[in-house]
Amino acid sequence: MNFYNNILERIGNSPLVKINNLTKQYGIKAQVFAKMESLNPGYSVKDRIGVSMVDWAEKEGVLKPGGTIIEATSGNTGIGLALTAAVRGYRCIFVLTDKVSVEKMRYLKSLGADIVVCPSAAKPGSPDHYVATAKRLSLETPNSFYPDQYNHPENPAAHYRTTGPEIWRDTEGKITHFVASIGTGGTISGTGRYLKEMNPDIKVIGADPYGSIFKPYKDSGHVPEPTPYLVEGIGQNLPVGNADMSVIDEIINITDRESFNLARELSRKEGIFCGGSTGTIFAGALRVAKDLDENAVVVFIVCDTGEHYLTKFHSDEWMKEKLLLEPQTITANLIAETKQAGSPNDLIFVGPDEPVSSAVAKMGESGVTQIPVLENDASVGSLRESRVLTRLLEDRDLLNAPIRDIMEESFPVVDAGTSLDKIKSKLQRSPAVLIEDFKRITGIITRSDVLDLQQ
Ligand SMILES: Cc1ncc(COP(=O)(O)O)c(C=O)c1O
Repeated sequence: MNFYNNILERIGNSPLVKINNLTKQYGIKAQVFAKMESLNPGYSVKDRIGVSMVDWAEKEGVLKPGGTIIEATSGNTGIGLALTAAVRGYRCIFVLTDKVSVEKMRYLKSLGADIVVCPSAAKPGSPDHYVATAKRLSLETPNSFYPDQYNHPENPAAHYRTTGPEIWRDTEGKITHFVASIGTGGTISGTGRYLKEMNPDIKVIGADPYGSIFKPYKDSGHVPEPTPYLVEGIGQNLPVGNADMSVIDEIINITDRESFNLARELSRKEGIFCGGSTGTIFAGALRVAKDLDENAVVVFIVCDTGEHYLTKFHSDEWMKEKLLLEPQTITANLIAETKQAGSPNDLIFVGPDEPVSSAVAKMGESGVTQIPVLENDASVGSLRESRVLTRLLEDRDLLNAPIRDIMEESFPVVDAGTSLDKIKSKLQRSPAVLIEDFKRITGIITRSDVLDLQQ
């Protein structure tokens, strides 16, 4: 029989996958490979340290049967620890911040863990900060183990023992550049140290969100005031024990916008469905690879799966709300679906055989200044309030005439997938465009709807 003794044996040995379409799109000559940590059983790079820190605690006698694991986590370390706890029969309590996606919270609960959520605005050292809360709970809970992933030597050691050797083996020692993010620093410090021991010329590059302290700290030794960013699991407010700056050659800052849009591109153009930190890392990998020739071999970490972020940056609505969507991804349907709250969603229209008075009444009631004329779900004309009123001033009897007699040409019709750029150019010449989906007019976009996008 061919089987694993338990799910933990399936952790590690993640494959390298070559990037093809995006390297071509960005004019990159170097070979770029994704190390697919999202294929671990808990779908992240942090499964590795979940097992290694628990192995250590069992060996040292810190964790005894029936014990409780308590950790501060952005979710993925919790998932790695919870998998281990499920297999070995421990209880888990994880302390998270309110920045963590609801998907990761539900996943942790499904694995049997209890979760405590702290405000992400709490400053490090304050009693309601998530790390301070985890420490306090571990002191109050008998027979508990607080791994402290930010300082536990088994975190980088797991990557030194496994991630580094796997990359060296799978590239046959040809790797020239390794790119990772820095959360606890375990991945980059452990993997980077192993690779540099094998070949000191290998460059180790950290990709970090703007707002995190790592880049200024590495470049100047100075710790600036951090500012908020949206990518989860990476960057810090303060230096951490496991982030060994001496292993890292360079840190590159990346914006939320670039991280999320590149993570989305990895899904769409390579089929690699990943989280936002992978987008940050891939952005760093592209910066590094841009100046390299075909002999260079760049390996970057795919930290976790996109499934953890379906309600966040993998949702067009969320991206639009945060003003992060690239204009070419904004489509006619998306604008119509997410029109400003409070505006009516149902399309307001008139028929060509209704009297003009009915159009005047509809425009007055709904506050619109133009209205499409539809017949059998197709657009046959349009009316603009100002022009109708001017005609009525001249001839009031027109109120009883059919709309067909005074209507103007139809607003331009676009299909549901039309991009914002195309819609904007049509709105130069017409006050509105109509959306057609499955041969039916389903919506209208006006100039003010586009202005509301604030892009
Ligand atoms: C989504 C995600 N990406 C990247 C990282 C960074 O890994 P490390 O803590 O090894 O620096 C984490 C860490 O929690 C994470 O959750």
